Amino acid sequence: MAKSKTFICSACGATSTKWSGRCEACGEWNTIHEETPLSAGPASKSLGAKRGSSIPLTSLATEETPPPRTHSGIEELDRVLGGGLVPASAILVGGDPGIGKSTLLLQAAARFAESGLKTLYISGEEASAQVRMRAQRLGLAQAPVQLGAETNLRDILTTLEAERPQLAIIDSIQTMWADNVDSAPGSVSQVRAAAHELTAFAKRRGTSVILVGHVTKEGQIAGPRVVEHMVDTVLYFEGERGHQFRILRAVKNRFGPADEIGVFEMTGSGLSEVINPSALFLSERGEPSPGSVVFAGIEGTRPVLVEVQALVAPSPHSQPRRTVVGWDGGRLAMILAVLEARCGIPFAGLDVYLNVAGGLKISEPAADLAVAAALLSAREDAALPAETVVFGEISLSGALRPAPQTENRLKEAQKLGFTAAIAPAGGKSVTDGGLSLTRATDLTGFVGEVFGAG
Ligand code: TYD
Ligand code: MG
Repeated sequence: MAKSKTFICSACGATSTKWSGRCEACGEWNTIHEETPLSAGPASKSLGAKRGSSIPLTSLATEETPPPRTHSGIEELDRVLGGGLVPASAILVGGDPGIGKSTLLLQAAARFAESGLKTLYISGEEASAQVRMRAQRLGLAQAPVQLGAETNLRDILTTLEAERPQLAIIDSIQTMWADNVDSAPGSVSQVRAAAHELTAFAKRRGTSVILVGHVTKEGQIAGPRVVEHMVDTVLYFEGERGHQFRILRAVKNRFGPADEIGVFEMTGSGLSEVINPSALFLSERGEPSPGSVVFAGIEGTRPVLVEVQALVAPSPHSQPRRTVVGWDGGRLAMILAVLEARCGIPFAGLDVYLNVAGGLKISEPAADLAVAAALLSAREDAALPAETVVFGEISLSGALRPAPQTENRLKEAQKLGFTAAIAPAGGKSVTDGGLSLTRATDLTGFVGEVFGAG
């Protein structure tokens, strides 16, 4: 049988048997490359040709103890991991270059090593001396972490086999180079091969492996999507340039809840934990002003208050601007359409800017009402009553839907000194959390209540 070629798309990882200029799966141009198979050998026989042996089956009802966890003592990290590090788990930490991944993982390595794990930190980007200097700057020079500077995957695996660490950190997966794969480091095949070998090692030897991954301009981990499927946990480290805040977000976790966040602040001596993120996100807020609304949100298991800011101004353009930071542009368009169709409040001819303060990205539908309130407040040039939080989901009909965990949101607001809340009516009956609570059933009612018009 002739050896068949495989082609792979570097954007989405789809494979095909022929080359084409455009990937049929994702529609990207010039992303298809030939792939050399991992195992260079004769084409494998059909699986049916040889009989396998039966695999042992067990009952679903078998008692299973929860995995043991090691705590780093960095609470924001332990929580995002689902309550500490699980042995034999493979974790991918993605983020923009310069966001602080190496800093975070060096700090984590030091803390895990101090709590008794045998820890190896392999850098493919920096020399050991550079890593050591950073450790000194972070005050971690005495931590029992072993360093290596290497990009050759074969040598790294041999070292790991010999050392059998309990935790291995690989910084970064894009610099790793497998000599049996005939393409450049950072290419799809290389990243996939390295991720495969390292996660296989994790499962085989019970080592927890943390892989650092760079993120492309589009905000995805560079390399094939399959890497995200290979690992147990995917964390994203995000933040705005020029802001001190950094958010570690679990987007996938086989050992804990996804959507959990940890909040850090980048300081001159590394990342420090932010125990009360609401206070931090609201710290830059001044006097109540038009266009500014405090949203009582939930990130993972934790309530987080953030300020939503809107600016609405007459547009000099025939096509008015819609600019959004920290929130979904499609969702903004929907809210503008609902305001226009259900409440008769047009935004045509007006530029709209929306910003979530502090560099946080929010994706909860419960932010709808806070966004609508900020837009109206900016448009009417009228500030909301002081010390008020807003939350609730808006449906296309203009009806308001109650948000989950209403009670937690209200409690957090009260804890931070807020005295009033505006939320949808209905849902489970809850206490008012000590705040004066205004309940609205639809958007028109909300507009009337808050802005005295409808
Ligand atoms: P780094 O961890 O190297 O980022 P990544 O690995 O994600 O590329 O962090 C780089 C930035 O962090 C750099 O711009 C300097 C800043 N930084 C501090 O502000 N304080 C510190 O203590 C350290 C170590 C870095
Ligand atoms: Mg780095």
